[in-house]
Amino acid sequence: MRYSRIAATGSYLPAKVLTNFDLEKMLSTSDEWIRERTGIERRHIAADGQTTVDLAEHAVRAALDAAGCKPEDVDLIVFGTTTPDLLFPNCGVLLQARLGCRGVPAFSVETACSGFMYALSIADKFVRAGEAKRALAIGAETLSRITDWTDRSTAVLFADGAGAVLLEPAEAPGILSTHLHADGAYSNLLYSGGGTDLSKPRRAITMTGNDVFKIAVNTLCKSIEEALVANGLQATALDWLVPHQANLRIIQATARRLDLPMERVITTVQDHGNTSAASVPLALDVGVRSGKIRRGDLILLEAFGGGFTWGSALIRY
Ligand code: COA
Repeated sequence: MRYSRIAATGSYLPAKVLTNFDLEKMLSTSDEWIRERTGIERRHIAADGQTTVDLAEHAVRAALDAAGCKPEDVDLIVFGTTTPDLLFPNCGVLLQARLGCRGVPAFSVETACSGFMYALSIADKFVRAGEAKRALAIGAETLSRITDWTDRSTAVLFADGAGAVLLEPAEAPGILSTHLHADGAYSNLLYSGGGTDLSKPRRAITMTGNDVFKIAVNTLCKSIEEALVANGLQATALDWLVPHQANLRIIQATARRLDLPMERVITTVQDHGNTSAASVPLALDVGVRSGKIRRGDLILLEAFGGGFTWGSALIRY
């Protein structure tokens, strides 16, 4: 039996930081409101001309450096994003050209905030099937480009960043299981126009925040339970929960229901905002590089996003 494991992680945040106090000058909002309702204090915003693939390239090179691998060692690229540089070619292909690993399969998955969970699950299967040796699973976004900066209900939430993991074959399971789901019946509660359906508002993120909040908490708890049950484990076995970083209240509610102390939850939402597909790999990399997450730790990753799409993964790091 062949398994995959995470060889290394990497992430990148653009230099520009936008604080809640900066937003107070742009919108009818307050630092107090944003912190109380979301936990967000600051977020990073891409520079003019900096694209999703630019951010991803930095994250991937950091992961490759940490693994001691070269770009030409990569033989699969799965790229989760909702903010692609172009409609086509996809971001995976654009990144492949930068890395120079020409000829290897490269594609993107557009499952909104669950983009990385889908990318990880797909990359894991390629490695386990023996069709890839060194596979990149990426989540990267420039959500600032599709944000309506006059809409206070969404502008305070979303931000830019990138995260990546490099998978490699292993004798013992690193990725223990992944669990993906979608329910398109909820597509109107959270979406962004800009595609070929011209009846929808162009580009801006449209969200019914209250409904999304309730469904997100319930669904994420079920998704975590699913991963634990599949592996015959209780939440007490987890060393770390690395959740989607959408809202601190969603993260706290999820941890409370699982009876998991917040000391075992990696939280970056206060510094990163909601970076959609990038949020989980960014938080994972922060956990690893800060020394909190160590080799051998049992980690649960989860995300929920527009679609709705959601997923979890249980990992022995
Ligand atoms: N600053 C100040 N006031 C704001 C505001 C802002 N940025 N955004 C909304 N408000 C106001 C509303 O207009 C409303 O005012 P009213 O009572 O006078 O009508 C009030 O605050 C409450 O709005 P509501 O939408 O009920 O707040 P909430 O407690 O549900 O918090 C969210 C809003 C968006 C933070 C919350 O619903 C949420 O996080 N939802 C999930 C979002 C998410 O995670 N999406 C991504 C999933 S991947």
